[in-house]
Amino acid sequence: MLPVLHVVQDTLGHLPPAAMLQVAEKLSVAPTAVAEVATFYSMLRLQPCGRYQIDVCTNVSCSLCGAEQILEHLEKKLGVSVGETSADGKFTLREVECLASCGTGPALQVNEDFHERLTPQKLDALIESLK
Ligand code: FES
Repeated sequence: MLPVLHVVQDTLGHLPPAAMLQVAEKLSVAPTAVAEVATFYSMLRLQPCGRYQIDVCTNVSCSLCGAEQILEHLEKKLGVSVGETSADGKFTLREVECLASCGTGPALQVNEDFHERLTPQKLDALIESLK
């Protein structure tokens, strides 16, 4: 199911309810089974998002390393709150659970790319490289 959901997401940009129903039909599973998978994995998007989805880990290890300051810095820099997309449609900022980079936090993920040991200076350089 995961590869199918990724193909749908890559094609449509996210997983709208109608597409998840079609996946359930094609795979002969209950629609709730698709919904359970789609809502479990943070890399699957249920809502439209910007070109770059920035997922900031705020779980325990990253929080101890300053994840909240990283998140605040991004909110100011991008002019959005968590869950919002920038006015130019480029950046969607989200708060997520562990990204499996606990020893090198604070960590975030931009689409498929991981960034670790973040500082405000590293964030500024990262955002500039994406503009
Ligand atoms: S706690 Fe942040 S990556 Fe695990």
